[in-house]
Amino acid sequence: MVELTYYPDDVLLHKAAPVEQINAEVRDLVNEMFVVLREAQGLGLAAPQVGRSLRLFVVSVPAEEPRAFINPEILETSVEEVLLEEGCLSIPGMYANLQRPAAVRVQAYNTAGKPFTLGAEGMVARVIQHELDHLNGVLFWDHLPERRRERLQKKYRAPQSVRS
Ligand code: NI
Repeated sequence: MVELTYYPDDVLLHKAAPVEQINAEVRDLVNEMFVVLREAQGLGLAAPQVGRSLRLFVVSVPAEEPRAFINPEILETSVEEVLLEEGCLSIPGMYANLQRPAAVRVQAYNTAGKPFTLGAEGMVARVIQHELDHLNGVLFWDHLPERRRERLQKKYRAPQSVRS
């Protein structure tokens, strides 16, 4: 079973590699990620957060169908932005209000290897943007002004990780 990785684990700070083949191994990883996400009571989880430097994430927002996004690309973002609070399972206990586009249009592959596009707004749009950042080694606090980011980083204490 995969385990959560925590900042400052190296895997969270690098760009992840594309998934080359959507096979049984990838489907197993996705299933395990949904289990970890449910246990942690999160809304989204990217593969680097379980120690796999691969371009895939899962999203499970209340009242929405849980979904896996493999090799995702954001096609379009709305001009309108919204301010929402974000946290991250890999940076437990830290939260910040961030301004991001209110809606996105994303293209990805599902676990059957089929491409799909999805228009999302509200919480789903926010989670998609946060998780896609993880695939590029970007954490939510990287969007904050330097002073605010440093304040959070100073306050942060990593939990005991099985990987450390
Ligand atoms: Ni996160």
